Amino acid sequence: MLSRIPWVVGSCGLLASIGAEFDRTRPFAHMVIGTAIHLEPKTVALLLTLRRGGAEIVAAGNLNSTQPETVDHLRAQGVHVVGSTTTDHGTHVAELERVLDAEPHLLLDNGGELFERYLTRPYERLLGGTEETTSGRMRLEPLRAELARPVLVVNDSPIKQFAENTRAVGLSVLESFLRITNRTPHGARVTVLGYGACGRGVAECFRQAHALVSVIEVDPVARLRAHLDGFDVLDRTSALSSAEVVVTVTGARDVLAPADLPLLRDDAVLANAGHFPDEINLGDAEVAPLTEGIDTVHLANGKRLYLLGGGHMVNLAGPRALGNSVESMDLGFALQSRCLEAVATGAVGPDSCVVPVPTAIDERVATEYVALRSARV
Ligand SMILES: NC(=O)c1ccc[n+]([C@@H]2O[C@H](COP(=O)([O-])OP(=O)(O)OC[C@H]3O[C@@H](n4cnc5c(N)ncnc54)[C@H](O)[C@@H]3O)[C@@H](O)[C@H]2O)c1
Repeated sequence: MLSRIPWVVGSCGLLASIGAEFDRTRPFAHMVIGTAIHLEPKTVALLLTLRRGGAEIVAAGNLNSTQPETVDHLRAQGVHVVGSTTTDHGTHVAELERVLDAEPHLLLDNGGELFERYLTRPYERLLGGTEETTSGRMRLEPLRAELARPVLVVNDSPIKQFAENTRAVGLSVLESFLRITNRTPHGARVTVLGYGACGRGVAECFRQAHALVSVIEVDPVARLRAHLDGFDVLDRTSALSSAEVVVTVTGARDVLAPADLPLLRDDAVLANAGHFPDEINLGDAEVAPLTEGIDTVHLANGKRLYLLGGGHMVNLAGPRALGNSVESMDLGFALQSRCLEAVATGAVGPDSCVVPVPTAIDERVATEYVALRSARV
């Protein structure tokens, strides 16, 4: 089969121009960068850009999202990739440990797991790094005093919030639902749990696909926003019991808990778009593979539910998953590259521990993206 990697890498215009600059400036010369990020084609563009800056890369994936073709490609390019696709937590943790064995100067984390493990086995030369997600920020915030190094949270950039979390996640979750189930969203009752940056995009994309969308939110202000955006903000029981499709996207665990399951309709489809699969807790329900990307969940009351992508991030875990659009990831990874450059060159210090991307970086990346796209007209 022909590889998609050249197309994807060739579509990352921002990273290409940053890479050309890094060829000259070499901000990561003699440094090791340890990463634990989804290993899919867009990540190739990021990791090879960092390497153009002089870095040696030691890369692990995240649970269940690693694409073997990407691993092979990176290895052929000389990137040290630890492990391969796994859904086993123990194996994943062992891979993170192997990244830390290289004592990276910089960590590019996705979920806070690398930094958290670093604290159990610290070493001197860690300068700091970046964290990609909301879930990781929540995990690392209580650890600021121990980390005491610059850790820039890419998720908290307004660019990532609207370009990726809202626009791109909404689109790719809908795309995954269509691809995995081949069912229509038209007229379907869809309930979205969580109306943050990602949930807003998921709710909006399903609505644009003519679904009847309800929102369940714990935060009163976010709930008001969902209401004013024109979504049904029903009580939790009504929203769950009427749903044909339930999407969790909160960053919190057990948002759909065993006690909720009997409320659901027979044949309801469940999908998680939050970072960790623990958003959906099926308790002791019997789960059996049905077809590619779909498990049947048998409840004690005789109802059957269908779980997409094993409960892992549906837009990355399903068969032939594409993830978020190339352009949104080009923007997010340009932020990553510039943030790692800022940490490597000492432009940010320990007072920038688990803080958003500096505004100057946001403005630079935004300006360069608009210039790049405008140049094509
Ligand atoms: N699938 C992807 O490609 C992708 C991309 C980016 C982020 N994420 C992940 O998606 C998740 C959400 O990210 P976000 O940026 O929208 O976060 P966010 O903080 O902006 O929004 C989360 C929302 O969920 C709500 N919430 C929390 N617990 C809830 C519960 N029990 N029931 C209902 N609502 C609840 C919160 O009040 C908040 O409004 C995170 O895990 C993040 O890492 C996934």
